[in-house]
Amino acid sequence: MMLTLTRPDDFHLHLRDGQALARTVGDALGQCARALVMPNLVPAVDTLEAVSAYRQRILAHVPKGADFTPLMSLYLSQTLSPETLLHAKAQGVLAVKWYPKGATTNSAQGVAHLEALEPILSVMQEVGLILLIHGEVTEAQVDIFARESCFIEEVLIPLRAKFPRLKMVLEHITTAHAVEYVRSQERNLAATITAHHLLFNRNQLLVGGIKPHFYCLPILKKEEDRLALVQAAVSGDRRFFLGTDSAPHARSAKESACGCAGCYTGYATMAFYAQVFERAQALDKLNDFAAKFGAEYYELPYNHGELVLEKRVWQLPETLPFGDTVLVPFLAGEQWHWQVVA
Ligand code: NCD
Ligand code: ZN
Repeated sequence: MMLTLTRPDDFHLHLRDGQALARTVGDALGQCARALVMPNLVPAVDTLEAVSAYRQRILAHVPKGADFTPLMSLYLSQTLSPETLLHAKAQGVLAVKWYPKGATTNSAQGVAHLEALEPILSVMQEVGLILLIHGEVTEAQVDIFARESCFIEEVLIPLRAKFPRLKMVLEHITTAHAVEYVRSQERNLAATITAHHLLFNRNQLLVGGIKPHFYCLPILKKEEDRLALVQAAVSGDRRFFLGTDSAPHARSAKESACGCAGCYTGYATMAFYAQVFERAQALDKLNDFAAKFGAEYYELPYNHGELVLEKRVWQLPETLPFGDTVLVPFLAGEQWHWQVVA
């Protein structure tokens, strides 16, 4: 069986930097035509100069004639000036990413007190820059499995009341609660959904031994949450679209007493989503989710080329070269039933 899609967009991708780019950009070329690149480098990508230099470093890994465009984002921080935001769009910046301070990998430069940033959000609202949200609270007393729900109730709802015209994306949603909330909002809110949250629940991470390669943030949730995510993804609702949150870490950083959050799905992104949509008997909905709804929300033209997947068994690699080290890709060594062939 073959499946032909318009070349997809990945609206949430971590490409990292330096030597890692050979891996991440090389893999992205085979999966999507555009990717919205996350700015959580160290130091964070929080100036237009940094954005443009980072874009050049990425493009250095895109062969001539390859159909791949990195879409850039800025890291929301106290140092972002209104001046920067006014010029951001003209420099090809699509969005500004908000990491609550301490919420996830490389969020130490994130925002502790959003109130201080309200003038920045006002400018974003006026110039039409999209706010990307890592939607988890960080208070120590809040249970890790409740952090997304708590964020929606305590942070997002009040924020949207203050900035009703600010277009937002709630990134990598993981709960039935988030699905319901996004559905309840008529405009200016959409959500990305990762392949790993569509495929697995928290048992995968914790039953039969702790499995660091399934540890990501937001953390995998319950089966009923996973089912709600699948329903949202296959429903044809334009507010839900593809964002992999593919986030590579070296093997040693994952297989550790204090392992990093992040799953490297980027080498086989579309094979993972195809299996989810096939199991839900909704392969005909994958093209809209992967190549249309996100483009519409970001007001970009659709991509032109095609991506062809075939249903055939292949073995996912055990490890992949990652700079001068290796990484263990998501589902390493497993048999899989879909593969990109062209
Ligand atoms: C991401 C990373 O490693 O950069 N990790 C993750 O678990 N998703 C950061 C993020 O998007 O939260
Ligand atoms: Zn991410």
